[in-house]
Formats: sequence, C-alpha cells, structure tokens
Amino acid sequence: MAIIFNGKKKTFSLHTSGTTYQLKIGNLNYVKHLYYGPRILDEDLIYLIRRYDRGFSGNPYDSLKERTFSLDAQPQEFTTQQQGDFRINSIEVRNSNGSYSFDGRYISHRIYPGPFTLSGLPTAFASENDTVETLELVIEDAITKVQVTLLYSVFEEADIIMRAARVRNAGDGTIWLERIMSLNMDYLNGLNLDLISLPGRYGQERQVERQRLTHHVHKIRSGRGISSHQQNPFVALVDRSADENYGSCYGFALMYSGSFLAEVELDQYDQARLVMGINDRLFNYPVEPGGEFDTPAVLMTYTHDGLTQMSHHFHDFFRNNLNRSKFVRDVRRPVLINTWEAAFFDFDDVKLVEIAKAARDMGVEMIVMDDGWFGKRNDDNSGLGDWYVNEKKIRCGLTELVRQINELGMKFGIWFEPEMVSEDSDLFRAHPDWAMEIPGRHAVRSRNQLALDMGRKEVQDYVIESVNRILDSANIYYVKWDINRAITDLWSNALPAELQGEVSHRYVLGLYRVMDGIIKTHPDIMFEGCAGGGGRFDPAMLTYFVQYWSSDNTKPLDNLKLHYGSSFLYPLCTMGAHVSSASPMVPLETKAAIAMGGTFGYELDATKLKKSAIRTCRKMSDLYQKYYNLNFFGDYYRLVNPFEKVNLVAWECVAKDRSEALVTVVTVNLTVNGPQEYIKCRGLDPDRFYRIRGDGEELTATGAALMHAGIPIPREIPDFTAFQYHLEAVERVSR
Ligand code: GLA
Repeated sequence: MAIIFNGKKKTFSLHTSGTTYQLKIGNLNYVKHLYYGPRILDEDLIYLIRRYDRGFSGNPYDSLKERTFSLDAQPQEFTTQQQGDFRINSIEVRNSNGSYSFDGRYISHRIYPGPFTLSGLPTAFASENDTVETLELVIEDAITKVQVTLLYSVFEEADIIMRAARVRNAGDGTIWLERIMSLNMDYLNGLNLDLISLPGRYGQERQVERQRLTHHVHKIRSGRGISSHQQNPFVALVDRSADENYGSCYGFALMYSGSFLAEVELDQYDQARLVMGINDRLFNYPVEPGGEFDTPAVLMTYTHDGLTQMSHHFHDFFRNNLNRSKFVRDVRRPVLINTWEAAFFDFDDVKLVEIAKAARDMGVEMIVMDDGWFGKRNDDNSGLGDWYVNEKKIRCGLTELVRQINELGMKFGIWFEPEMVSEDSDLFRAHPDWAMEIPGRHAVRSRNQLALDMGRKEVQDYVIESVNRILDSANIYYVKWDINRAITDLWSNALPAELQGEVSHRYVLGLYRVMDGIIKTHPDIMFEGCAGGGGRFDPAMLTYFVQYWSSDNTKPLDNLKLHYGSSFLYPLCTMGAHVSSASPMVPLETKAAIAMGGTFGYELDATKLKKSAIRTCRKMSDLYQKYYNLNFFGDYYRLVNPFEKVNLVAWECVAKDRSEALVTVVTVNLTVNGPQEYIKCRGLDPDRFYRIRGDGEELTATGAALMHAGIPIPREIPDFTAFQYHLEAVERVSR
C-alpha cells in the first residue's frame, strides 16, 4: 500500500519505493507537514516539531492563549490566510462578505486506487505496471465554508508524487480566488538549500542557475501567458553539497502551459516554504456557491542520490506516464527535414518535391512543410487564421502534393499556428472580436500578429474544425504546432467586466480543449510542439506532444547548453534538435552528433548540399537509427557542464540493462599543446568488460576502469571534432 493512514496517530504516510512523505492532522485540526525524504517506517514524526513562544507570531484564537502555538512557526500542508502566518501563502480568497481570510482545518479524507484527474487540465496516468494510490484530504473554513481538497497521487515505483488542490465553495455567496497554488511545501530547516531553475530567453532557453536560499522571497515566474522562454515551470531545492552523484534533491515540475509562479521563502526561523501554481498576477477567479476550481498538477520527486537521479525520475516518468501516443515508444520517429531554414516563406510544390528527393539520399524519411503554405502568407504580416491551402504556392493541391511525396517513399508533415490571427486575414475580417484586444486600445502586436481569445467556445470550435479539415484531407503523418508570441491584452469580448480576471487561465483551458479535439482525435499523427523554439516547452505540453522544438537557435555549440539545461527535467527524446547550415565552421558530423543529443533531423536546403555532404548526412542518419533505442530509452548522464570553462563537452546514454552505452564528446576549445583529457563514464556495470569504438582505436576495459579512470580523448584533431563512443558489454569480470 502506497498510502497508510494511522487513525490513532492521525498521520498519513505516502510511500514510494524510495521515499516517504508524511502529514498529520495536528492541533486544532490544522494539517501539518512532517517529512519528505528517504523511505522510513510509518512512525509519527511529530517529535520533530518543537514549540516556543515566538514574539510577533500570533496564536489562533482557539489555541486558548497557548502562546507557543503559532501558524507562523508551524510546517503546513496548505496555508491559511490572515491566521497569523506571515509567510508566502498558497491561497488568497476574497470571501462573499468582502473579507480576506481562510482558516482551513481538516474535515475528511479518502484514499482510492489510481491517480486523480482534474477538470480541463492534463494529469499523469498510471502505466501498466504502476502502483498508484491517491489521497484526497479536505480542509474547510468553518465560517465561510470554503473547502480546499488537497490531492496526492503516489506513483510508487516511479518515486513521483503528483499533487494539486481543488477549491469548493460550500458557502452561499460567490467567493473570489486571487491566488490559488497547486502545492505548498514546507521545510523545517532550509538554511542549507540551493534553488535550481532554468532561466533563458528567446534562442537561449533553459540555461541553468543555482543559487543559495537567503532570507527573502525568490520568485521564478512567467507572466507571458505561456510557460515561456524566460523561465520553465521547474524548480529544484537541493542540498548545498548536492552534485550529480550525491546529495538530497527535491524536484518540482508544474503541469501548466500559461503564466505560472514558483516562490520560495527562507523565513525568520530558517524554515523554507515553496509554493507553485498559476501566476496570481492578472488572475481573479470567482467561484459560485456549489462551484469548484481545480489547480494544475505538480509532479514532485525526491532522491538523496544527487541531480542525475532526480533527472532520471522525471525522464522515466515523462516517457511512461504523460503521453499515450504510439510515437512515444511503439513507433520509431522518422528522420525529418524541415523547410523553414531552407526556404522560409519562399517555396512551392515543385520546390518541396525537389527538397524531398534530395533529402531521401540523406536518409531522411519525412519532409515537413513549415510556415507559408496557407491563406495569403508570403511573409509574417498576413494569413494566420486562414487554414486553407494557398493554391498559388501548392498548385497541385495538398492531397496531390502529399501523394507525390509518399510516392518518393517519404512521409509528410505540416505546420500550424492555430492560436493566432493576422489582422490581414479573412478570419480577422470576419471576426475582429475574436482577437484579444482591450476596448478602446490597440492590441500590442508581436511578430505582427494577435492572439485569439482561446477561452471562447466558438473560437475553439473554429480552430478544431479548420485544422482537422486539413488533417483529414491528405495523408499527413506529422504536425508542428507553433505559437509565435506571448499573450498580452487580456480581454474577452465574451465576458462581462467582472470576469476579465479569468481570461488568462481560460486561454490555457481553451487551448487544452482544442488540443484534445485535434491531437487526441488523431492518434496516428505525430505532434511536435513549438513556441518560437522552446517558449512553451513544459510537462503539460508533453501530454500532447511527443517532442518539442527546443529552440530556434540551431547553432550546434549553443545547443550543447540547451540540451544540458533541458536535461534537468526533460528526457532527450522530447527535445527537438536539427542539423542546420548555421555555424559553418563546425563539421557536419559534429552537428549531427549534437542533434542526436535531441530527437535529430535536418533544417537546411538539401538541394544545395554537395554530394559529399549528402553522403555524410546519410551516414549520420544511419547512426541515428542505430542509436535510437539507446538515445530515446536509455539513462541520460550529464558528464561535463558546458557552462563551465571546459575544452570538451560530453554526455552519455546507457541502456537500462547496461549492455551498451553511447558517450558523445564534443571538442569546443582545442588548446595548442594542451593536456591529455579524459572523460569518465557513468552508470556502467563495473564488473563487465566493454568494447569501445569511436575514435579509430578499439579498446576494451571494465566498466569500473571507464568510470573511475575514463576514456582518453585524442588531441591531434580538427577543431570542433565530435566522438561518438559506442560501448558494448562483452563479458563479465571473472573473480
Ligand atoms: C517559429 C518556429 C520556427 C518556424 C517559424 C515559422 O519561429 O520556431 O521553427 O516554424 O516559427 O514562422
């Protein structure tokens, strides 16, 4: 049993295979958080909490002048509001009488098999061999009858707990949620914690930052209506001494694609508190009597074995529990070529067939027709929203074009940007009120386009219908779903003034409904997400997309950092990565080796490549096929941090049974007459011999030697050489 309730002690112990999370119905029925860490028994850990008379930290009225009991100094599962706890809070509610207060106390709970689901929001599912149990625990304010149900689904084998909160208005007047977090996580002592996050910008997404917790509120957030290039909805709180191999690491990933917030506070007593959920800025949600509001889910994990293990928990979970598409595991994803960097808006049907023909010889199996095939779209000033084929460019029609491509033995993919509209489009001319624009003002333009009000049902239906019509008109194998601006001008013409605080969240809910209506109804199509690169690369999106375009920046050396940063949370098989014409000083082989640190594909004009380059691409495409299982399903190890001043960058994928591995080493700075450098492997079987090929010399060594002494990397080589060392287990060490 994953969840154990001890009725006598009133403790709930949530066990995964390696961890225990404990909460308890404590004094005055406040729900206390007691523990999250390595697995222990179901013993009551209340002994950890010492109480003192803390000045200026007030006491609940019914603690009867007991001055040692203050919510300001107690670890809690979910916070109150205006009950003497001055730290960051998980709920801010304006009650029907105008007061701002919430005093949630335990009233009931239930435990059931399987994970929870949320209304209109994606959640993780149990896969075949998973043991999953859920605890729903209700706290209520006795005066206002506002209830919060705390949801915990325990994925035992995966070491993951999924959490969320559901607010129910059991009172008789409307309440207004001004802030409602998915998770509250208290630490009895947080002085030794570091905060890791993945900040970035357009073209440089998911870089890594690690900072000490100090006595203030640290805020990681997006207010851009999308999870954003600038921050990712992920934070880790790790021991100051934690590294890749050792130390306590807590990881948290929010399953939400809009504006989000993670706040961490180290308080006056060195307690730490993390809250995570929808960004409360420009958010104000009424809940009618009898109504409910669900927050998005957070996935959390713990390990005391360092950052790699934390990442492995997420990687395995993302591969097994988020997306049911056959392209996750059962069907190999084809090598693709995308037309964007090859032709931008300047192509026609003949050009596409030419690119496809040339690309076939590179080992490419699918051509993706990017932006520019629809409406009147010859640049980025017009056409968005008009999802019908531009027959001036695709003169033979889409069905025929796809037939010609299929006849070459290739599959066909297509690009959409369904949430957007150009002012110069038939859609905008017919429905100007569908675009987000605040009355009396002109909307902010971004890439010359406006956002549709995705919260409106008629907009959702239009998008579902017009995209599906194209998908059903030809033999389409793949879709790239893009969004190329952040959301501003929050306003819906379909809502009265007092409900405008819902618009941002409604956009996200509307988007999920649209994706359900397009993606979930086309299980034979492979969907890749994109947001001007990786501007909405988040766990919720991965419930729809098997992969996400990592960045519009296809410079290979920049991608070393992008992949490294992304890998803290995301498995390699989700990171879109292409070989392009950018950075001509980097050899094609190296570009390809780096693109294999993601999903691999091409983004260049195949008709302009020399014969020798075509041959090189063919060789590299074949290697992608050869290493597919290792890269997509193996355990990923960060071997060298590219953010440090290093001469080599390296990473490794090891088969789950440790029978083979692929170590990729990229030379980024070849110093003249420099030292001999070694790359130490990880995750191998120390007691097996491995045969290693990759730099012209073949050698055999034990896993132990390769992990502790390493592989010597050749020096007399051209700049930016990459080595892909394939390690094959041969025999066991006999003792
Ligand atoms: C975004 C994407 C690119 C390409 C263009 C098309 O920038 O990230 O890959 O699809 O849009 O307009």
